[in-house]
Amino acid sequence: MEKSIKVFAPATVANVTCGFDVLGFAVDNPGDEVELKLKSTTGITISAITGDEGKLTKDPELNTVGVSIIRLLAKLGSKQGLDIKLHKKMPLGSGLGSSAASAVAGVFAANQLLGCPLKQEELLPFAMEGERIACGSAHADNVAPSLLGGFVIVRSYTPLDVVKIPTPKDLFATIIHPHIEVRTKDARSILRKDLSLHDAIKQWGNVAGLVAGIITSDYALIGRSMDDVVAEPYRSMLIPGYYDVKQAALDAGALGGGISGSGPSVFALSKDEKTAKKAGVNMAKVFNELGIGNEVYVSRINNAGPQIIG
Ligand code: HSE
Repeated sequence: MEKSIKVFAPATVANVTCGFDVLGFAVDNPGDEVELKLKSTTGITISAITGDEGKLTKDPELNTVGVSIIRLLAKLGSKQGLDIKLHKKMPLGSGLGSSAASAVAGVFAANQLLGCPLKQEELLPFAMEGERIACGSAHADNVAPSLLGGFVIVRSYTPLDVVKIPTPKDLFATIIHPHIEVRTKDARSILRKDLSLHDAIKQWGNVAGLVAGIITSDYALIGRSMDDVVAEPYRSMLIPGYYDVKQAALDAGALGGGISGSGPSVFALSKDEKTAKKAGVNMAKVFNELGIGNEVYVSRINNAGPQIIG
């Protein structure tokens, strides 16, 4: 049995515009890293967290990675002691699935160190417990794609049923992270709790169209399905210049765009890298003009999920 392991898990774009809480995809960069070490004593400890500007707790019962691993060990009936080092390689509260990537890296690393008692997809409920600690809701549309790679549909929460669908090979994502903080908890609390039948019909038409477009590599269908009447009308108010940023991506030739997860990051999908990069430049121009610092990520869709890197 190995004594220690280092794992990378990818950032994710949840919702993909119209699939609130049921659709997400993973990107190649950024992502988080977790180092895990077997201990000769029992108990879970967190000896180091880097890249978080001191914002995250090292109390394993309150930390996303700690909680996910504690729940996993409890399920396995294991008393194995483990020490965690978490390296945040992406901004917190950014809408990039930061807590999900940490939790996924943690449970994947723990499962590996213990000799893989569970299949990769069986790790999902434990990573979701990490999400619950981070934002009060155990949604799966970040953890599932980070764990499985690619585009993932959360068909049902009870019972949990996730479906990975094939990724169009020429699809590229542009993500821009403006330097403002939007807490997922707050971005969820401003949403309407009820939906009119009229809006529901629009939304499920778009979700079905988007999924069909992704599966058949129909880029035009992907683009025209990227419309959201559930979250965007409310959450856009939390992101200065949001509609101009989205329009800037479309002007560059992107297929469509939206808020990444609960924001404040904004994303776009394009059918080649050149367009995705141009979209990034255009989007950054808008935030720059508003005096809002930002960084841009351009990436293929990540199909691999978590990777052992040491
Ligand atoms: N589906 C979740 C939300 C993702 O939109 O609140 C949060 O990252």
